[in-house]
Amino acid sequence: MNIQGEDGYELWLRYRPVDHPERLAQYRSAINCVVAPGTRETAAVIRSELARALPALLDCAVPLVDKPTGNALVVGTIDELKAISVFVSSDDCRDLGDEGFIIANGERKNQSPISNFQSLTSTIITGNSAPAVLTGTFHFLRLVQTHQDIRALDLTSRPRIRHRILAHWDNLDGSIERGYAGRSLWNWDALPEKIDPRYHDYARACASIGINGTCLTNVNAGARILTTEYLEKTAALADLFRPYGMRVYLSPNFSVPMRLGGLTTSDPRDPGVAAWWKQKVDEIYRLIPDFGGFQVKANSEGVPGPQDYGASHAEGANMLAAALAPHGGIVLWRAFVYDTAVDADRAKCAYKEFVPLDGMFHPNVLVQVKNGPIDFQPREPFHPLFGAMPQTPLALELQIAQEYLGQSKHLVYLGGMWKEILDSDTHAQGPGSTVARVVDGSLDDHSTSCIIGVANTGSDRNWCGHHFSQANWYAFGRLAWDHALSGEAIADEWVRLTWSDDPHVVDAIKTMLLGSWEACIDYMTPLGLHHIMQEGHHYGPDPGFNAAPRLDWNNVYYHRADAKGLGFDRSSSGSNAVSQYHSPLREQFDNLNACPEKYLLWFHHVPWDHRLQSGATLWEELQRRYDAGIGFVEEMRGIWESLRPRIDPQRHEHVSRRLEEQLENARLWREVCLKYLSRFTL
Ligand code: GCU
Repeated sequence: MNIQGEDGYELWLRYRPVDHPERLAQYRSAINCVVAPGTRETAAVIRSELARALPALLDCAVPLVDKPTGNALVVGTIDELKAISVFVSSDDCRDLGDEGFIIANGERKNQSPISNFQSLTSTIITGNSAPAVLTGTFHFLRLVQTHQDIRALDLTSRPRIRHRILAHWDNLDGSIERGYAGRSLWNWDALPEKIDPRYHDYARACASIGINGTCLTNVNAGARILTTEYLEKTAALADLFRPYGMRVYLSPNFSVPMRLGGLTTSDPRDPGVAAWWKQKVDEIYRLIPDFGGFQVKANSEGVPGPQDYGASHAEGANMLAAALAPHGGIVLWRAFVYDTAVDADRAKCAYKEFVPLDGMFHPNVLVQVKNGPIDFQPREPFHPLFGAMPQTPLALELQIAQEYLGQSKHLVYLGGMWKEILDSDTHAQGPGSTVARVVDGSLDDHSTSCIIGVANTGSDRNWCGHHFSQANWYAFGRLAWDHALSGEAIADEWVRLTWSDDPHVVDAIKTMLLGSWEACIDYMTPLGLHHIMQEGHHYGPDPGFNAAPRLDWNNVYYHRADAKGLGFDRSSSGSNAVSQYHSPLREQFDNLNACPEKYLLWFHHVPWDHRLQSGATLWEELQRRYDAGIGFVEEMRGIWESLRPRIDPQRHEHVSRRLEEQLENARLWREVCLKYLSRFTL
């Protein structure tokens, strides 16, 4: 048991001695030495990680040697291994792509043996590229960290989604939009000369969970990031991240040809504008040859875009795509738009604007869609664009930062939320047309795919503000790599890596994690309520807010409480947002009695005396939900207190304080919401 104080900086890469005697003996005999013959920068990263991890985990020396002797851990690309006469059959590698890896030892089941092993128990980690081997190395270390049996490994893994990106909403002045863990990690003033060692630890953390891209700047973009001065700073970060298999992306402002280039227009149809972008993109690639591309917010929340000139989203995206295509870059064009002129129901706008554009985007454009049709609420039904644009690859945008879910003050594990979205069946091509299959490209046979998560990282020592928010960064990466993993399996891994392998601790923390999201929904926005947080900062309740300049920035717009009932009528007799879903979902959501209760007030204006499945009226059920949510936070507090002797005091204390705050805030939610709503029911 480790009772030393910890500050959380190491995240899930805590390499503590394996405190499982039997496994420790197995690992020590299986790994006498390491052979990692690569010469590229990534190979140096691999060696350094193994040199840091293995002696610490095994609590003994594990030398790096040139030739395998005894039971070696042999780590390198297929070609690097060939050079030291360890041959992996090309059949084994054919399906790996450039990011997949193999971890194997002994004679591989059902497959050709790996030839020329010094010993049947030697273990190899290999793949077609050095970053693939790095991901495999972290995977192997995870097996050891979580005390798995490594005697008969025959494991092949490749990502289901091509681009797995963290999006930082970081501004150049060091502030972070919706950041709750301190300042930006990027010290722009000191770059490119001064490289904060923390950048390496950020990259290690990302690489360890398979994240292969980072978008450094806020979607609400200024112009300065595209100046040569800032591109040079960006290039320094790109150079640093490259060995970790990570590409850098930027969010440009659409009007930058005017703001930086001195042009009189930023109209995407203007040849001068297109030429300006081409030149700018060429400059970027001279500095950053593997630049990933642009993430673009346009004509959304007052941000400029092609529609300012009467051009379409497709014309805007394609102009940028044409500049990026020769270099292999992509455009992530965001569909987060809600122009009141398009529809009075905000939830319907993006679909109405983007579905007609299906088939018009260049092949290197992905339309980036948030998980739900409003805005990262505690729970939303999946966005109806998934399954509605078969000719366009759609990137899934998730928010790791818990803007509307208690920020870094509440313990809310999002693995279950993201699984609910990924596993949702759009029925676009009949049953089984899940959001996951739309996003990974398999449903419509797209060769590119992307998942992007708004990061929750910052300069706080523990990276994410709340120690438990680290679980969401971790879960994002693991699901991005393999969306078939369960939220529970990921939680299990994370707890073992981050806290302890003690079964009592694992079970207790898992109980907290796995119940935390539903609890948050219950004490904030039960039964499909949404967007009733305090204005601006979005922390805490304010269901009565009605003073915004736009109707749909008011909270009363979303819940529509009146003497008759509660909820937004999006049925066929209301805004008819249900029509944007495929059958049979459309009919199911449309019918008050068939609509899943979790979305009830999202799709229906429900009479206060309507009876729910529990037999309770809507009003009674709401009270029950608020109580249940608070009850779970109380339970988490009790569980956490019981773990005091088994957790290091520093982290224990930190989390205890946050749980107190969460409980207080959850109670406030109940008090404010029920008091407000009771005005309509009494
Ligand atoms: C939310 C968030 C904004 C952000 C926007 C976006 O509305 O509150 O801060 O800019 O989403 O995703 O573009």
